[in-house]
Parts: sequence; C-alpha cells; structure tokens
Amino acid sequence: MPNFRPDTALLKTIDANLSDAAAQYQLLMKNLPEDQFPKTFFPKTGQYEFSQSDWWCSGFYPGTLLQLFEATGDSSLYREAMRILPILEKEKHNTGTHDLGFMMFCSIGEANQLQPNPAYREILLTSAKSLSTRFNPTVGCIKSWDSKPEDFLVIIDNMMNLELLFWATRESGDSSFYKIATTHANTTLAHHFRPDNSSYHVLNYHPHTGEVMEKRTAQGAANESAWARGQAWGLYGFTATYRETKQLTYLEQARKIAQFLLSHPNLPADKIPYWDFNAPGIPDALRDASAAAIMASALIELSGYVPASEAGQYLQTAETMLKTLSSPSYKAAPGTNGGFLLQHGVGHKPNGTEVDVPLTYADYYFVEAMRRYKALAP
Ligand code: GLY
Repeated sequence: MPNFRPDTALLKTIDANLSDAAAQYQLLMKNLPEDQFPKTFFPKTGQYEFSQSDWWCSGFYPGTLLQLFEATGDSSLYREAMRILPILEKEKHNTGTHDLGFMMFCSIGEANQLQPNPAYREILLTSAKSLSTRFNPTVGCIKSWDSKPEDFLVIIDNMMNLELLFWATRESGDSSFYKIATTHANTTLAHHFRPDNSSYHVLNYHPHTGEVMEKRTAQGAANESAWARGQAWGLYGFTATYRETKQLTYLEQARKIAQFLLSHPNLPADKIPYWDFNAPGIPDALRDASAAAIMASALIELSGYVPASEAGQYLQTAETMLKTLSSPSYKAAPGTNGGFLLQHGVGHKPNGTEVDVPLTYADYYFVEAMRRYKALAP
C-alpha cells in the first residue's frame, strides 16, 4: 500500500520473534521421532502428539522450517526440512484427501520457490493430479471428506488447496487444473455463504445432481454459527484465488468476509477471535490463535488489492493481531511449549481434540504473516 508506514516497534518485535522461532524449532526438531511429524504438545504433561505423513498438517513443519531459514539464514533449519521432505513425498499419490495443497504446497512448494528443481516440480504436479481426481464436474467441487456414496461433502477449508492447482496450470500449461480450481471457487461462492457473508463449514451436495442437500458444521459450535478458522480459511482462500485469477468476484468475496469479521461485535479488542464467533460462554470462551494468524496473513495480502482507507483498516487489524500474538499471552516463552511458537490454538472443539494447545498451522501462518508484514517496509 503506498504511503503505508509499518510500525517500527512491531518490526523489531517481529525480528526478535523470528530469531526466537528459529531457536524454538531447534527444540522441536530435537524431540521429533525420525519418521514422524509434529502435531501438538500438551504443556501440562510435557507430552507431544506426532503424526504420520498422511495427516493434513504434515506440510506445515517443513514449511515453517523453510520460512524460518529464509528469515534467519539458520542452515540447520534448512537441513532439517531437507531431511523430512523425502518422508512426505509419497503423499503425492494420496487421492484419499483434499488437503494435498496444505501438505505439499506449503512444504515442497516453499522448497521449490527457494530453489527450483525438477524433482520438486514433479512432486507438485503429481500432487495436483491426485487432488484433481476428487473433482466432480456435476457438483463443481473437489470432494473434501470421503463419506457414504450418496454424500459429497465439501468444507470451506478446501479453498486453501486451490493454490496448488493454479501453480500446476502455470507450470505445465495444462488448463484443466485452473478450471477445476475456479469451478470449485464459483460453486463455493454460490452456496457456502450466508447473507451476512459468514460461511457454513460443511456442505453436502448430491453427487449425481449437484443439489445442496445439507448445510452444517463439524468443527464449529452450531450449524448456523461462524466457526472462526473456517472464516479465516475463506478469507485467505478467496484472497489467494483473486491473486491467481484477477477475477474481481473473488476479491469482492474476500472483502465481504473481511467486513463480516472486522465489524463483528464478538471480535475482541485484541483481535484474537473466539474459536467460534458464536461460541457459548463468550467472553469466557476459548480463543483460537490459529484463526488469528491465518486472518492476519490474509488481511496483509488483501490490503494490497483495495483502496487505501480499506487497506489501512486491514493493516491496523493485522498489526493488532500480530502484537497480541507476540505478547506472552500467546507467544511461548523460549524453551517452553515443546518448541512450538504459539499457545492457545483450538483444533476440533466439538471432538475435544487439540483444544487450547499449540498447532503447527498456527505457527506456519504466524511466521508467514510476520514475513508479509516485514515485506511492507520500504
Ligand atoms: N482443515 C481442518 C481445520 O482447519 O481444522
């Protein structure tokens, strides 16, 4: 944004955070079993939870390592990313998940951007082909979750997996990936949003007619509530889809989501959302640091596409989010939190899993948001 002056105190805090983050990830890497990926850590018991490479979050750890290497030049982080990427590679053939964008583009995509290489290109193109097998042209969407044959479940989160497809068309010249991505975005735009521009979490389409059979939640507080991370995925996903296509309809949707979020009476003054905008027990409900990190990163990007006064509103909100996440209320003290950067993420509240814990994606998008903010400095 022209004439924007980044907050110099926040820039200093970000530099300190990035250097602390490199040290935290050294700790995390020391405690990681050789063939597994970090999932979360329970500070009260000192126990970790790890995953195999097929968990939807497996790309965030290598992706964060690579981002921190770029930010700090610490080559041990790069070496650790290079150690673990070959363990992730086999997921390029995984047609049982819609999360290949998260898994492969946030990791191998990052490595390829850092140092383009034909092997990475092949992994990413194979991943894009695997993801495309989940597209149903009658529904006009990529299937998110496998379920009964009569169901076709699509979640708002799926917008985040489209960047891999846009990249694949740019790289290969095969327009089918682009068409799948834009068709998915158009169908989501038509059906996933309420009149107030909040989004449902899960839609169930008829697989043979494309009719919407059900609109509901899985990870939110209620079918008609606004699950915070879902809103964040929508904001980020439509912003990225605008970047990739330059079609104004996606930009308009991203702006509408931003206005829903920023004007919501339940968005606290420190700008860290409750885990659901309609969570029971507000103001004592849990906050979700991951939703704040994703929103901050998306708002910084979106600020580059809108008029100055609106951009200022987005950037001020992102600044407050970054300042709050950098405070001891959210940022873990060095040497604690199992090496994760942020505390207080909410994974799946209704299931009671990963509630009020560190999360790999909270860290990934926090680091991305800080780097995006730094890049605004002249
Ligand atoms: N995509 C799953 C989540 O946001 O929890």
